[in-house]
Amino acid sequence: MKIAIDGPAGAGKSTVAKAVARKMKFNYLDTGAMYRAAAYAMIERGIEPSDREKVLSALPGLSMKIVYKGGSQKVLIDGRDVTPYIRTPQISKGASDIAVIPELRLKLVDLQREVANEYDVVMDGRDIGTYVLPDADFKFFITASPRERAKRRYLELKETVPDADIDQIERDIIARDKTDSTREFAPLRQAEDAVLVDTTDLNREQVIELVSGMISGAV
Ligand code: CDP
Ligand code: CDP
Repeated sequence: MKIAIDGPAGAGKSTVAKAVARKMKFNYLDTGAMYRAAAYAMIERGIEPSDREKVLSALPGLSMKIVYKGGSQKVLIDGRDVTPYIRTPQISKGASDIAVIPELRLKLVDLQREVANEYDVVMDGRDIGTYVLPDADFKFFITASPRERAKRRYLELKETVPDADIDQIERDIIARDKTDSTREFAPLRQAEDAVLVDTTDLNREQVIELVSGMISGAV
């Protein structure tokens, strides 16, 4: 069984994907973490994620592996777990920049499909329903207003960054959505057969219940 969850930044994709995976005892694959890890690896090598030529020349030497430890996903670059370092605003932007490069995407999509061939999965990202798993059993497109999404990210960030600026977060989110939805190859787009869930006025539990209900009502 394959469940595809797509949508823009901060819409609640990973929250619902993790909960559904736990309920159904499926593996959860956060594909965003793979783009983030790729951006991190390039920055570590002194390469700007937007520098297509340099990224392409470093690509054959990029070794990425997905492992599951204690029930959660880790992304290994050259055998080293980089998961703790990939959730910064710099890496968010870098991930969106590197995600424009088709050759990089194809390499990650191969890995994503390998996971889907091996396990029942809930996968979240931008192009899962449209490109990675076009035959997924269930497809959801999770969204919310930019302000609400910025508010959610602000509340998360405030713990570690007391002077986080909600207006800046909103601008960053809107810029990233634009890069993601206007790139030529596998852009952020709702699949024709995906169920649209607007979570602007829904809390975590309501979204989880709604999506889980649609799945269990159909199987
Ligand atoms: O994966 P994505 O970027 O789409 O979003 P997320 O990481 O699942 O959710 C971003 C934040 O919004 C998390 O802190 C969630 O707890 C929160 N959230 C919420 O407040 N209300 C929802 N309906 C869904 C998520
Ligand atoms: O958690 P959040 O929604 O902020 O972002 P993410 O899911 O971790 O993804 C980070 C970036 O990776 C996105 O802005 C996209 O540019 C890229 N991405 C993608 O292009 N395709 C995917 N399937 C997943 C992520």
